[in-house]
Amino acid sequence: MSEIIALPGLIDVHTHLRVPGGEHKEDFRTGTAAALAGGITQILAMPNTSPPLTLPEVMVETLATARHDVLCDVGLFAGASPAHIDRLPTLAPYAVALKIYLNDTFGKLRVEDVPTLRACFQTWPREKLIAMHAEKQSVAVGIGLAATYERSVHFCHISRREEIELIADAKMRGLPVTCEVTPHHLFMDVTDRERLGMLADMRPVLGTPDDVAALWAHLHDTVDCLATDHAPHTLAEKQSDNPPPGVAGLETSLVLLLTAVTENRLTLSRLIDLMHTNPRRLYNLPEQPDTRVEVEMTPTTIRNEMTQSKCGWTPFHGRTVAGRVKRVILRGQVAYEDGMVLAQPGTGMVIV
Ligand code: NCD
Ligand code: ZN
Repeated sequence: MSEIIALPGLIDVHTHLRVPGGEHKEDFRTGTAAALAGGITQILAMPNTSPPLTLPEVMVETLATARHDVLCDVGLFAGASPAHIDRLPTLAPYAVALKIYLNDTFGKLRVEDVPTLRACFQTWPREKLIAMHAEKQSVAVGIGLAATYERSVHFCHISRREEIELIADAKMRGLPVTCEVTPHHLFMDVTDRERLGMLADMRPVLGTPDDVAALWAHLHDTVDCLATDHAPHTLAEKQSDNPPPGVAGLETSLVLLLTAVTENRLTLSRLIDLMHTNPRRLYNLPEQPDTRVEVEMTPTTIRNEMTQSKCGWTPFHGRTVAGRVKRVILRGQVAYEDGMVLAQPGTGMVIV
């Protein structure tokens, strides 16, 4: 008999569920099925949809779809856009947090001007967090805004040595900044691009081995959360002439991190901080009573065919990890067991 490890329901604060407008890549039902299969019971969905989540009417409609479809708990990010910046406060009742994209990535959401940044920091309610996609020197812009307006900034998917070291310096000065890292930036590096081509292309791009070493070294202090940046695109899209950046991550994150635990690169208690305790505290997310994840510690090879995500592939295909999610119990109900999603659409809760 293999050992069974019990964990609290895990939280992913960075997921792309593609509703509205990208439902051929993922939808609320398939994305939350993938979350459950990965031991994740609460997720925050990103606003770079089509249309993006920058207007209250779009948010209301998206929440209504979510209420009907989700298998685990889901909250939405509002998106900052210069065109609709005067409407920003009206998005807050429907969103858990605000996302600002400072750098290029999939979709058109971007903030590149100071007046829009000032408006975000002056008009978004202080009790709701501001998260940023910031790379390289944009991290310094975010730290400057956190200091100027004396309010917290959370940095998404930090991937480079220079960025994590800058954030460590800011934290040492007592500035209110936090950050997340993704499993793909911890478990892959630029050399995987040679093997996987565009299947290993995402924003931020994969780091050098030195960047990866810096992320691991800071995992024990500077890094606050582990987040998947689950960004599904179809294989046909990834193999096209104009491939979009992004890879799936909901189903592989926990098992990769648990593998690191068995290799003594991380403790189980730190894993729970990174995937449960800290995300809950940062985003002020509700408790999920009677909720737990059971993992069977048996060597398991990740395979594209096992995926619940609509995209149907993972950059970790063929990798052997230390365990597999056996059972997920959400509010007392078995939601997932031995490869079967048992939760019914609508049994997840919408968080606002
Ligand atoms: C994300 C996507 O596909 O929406 N892609 C990615 O490479 N990470 C966008 C993002 O998170 O930057
Ligand atoms: Zn993302």
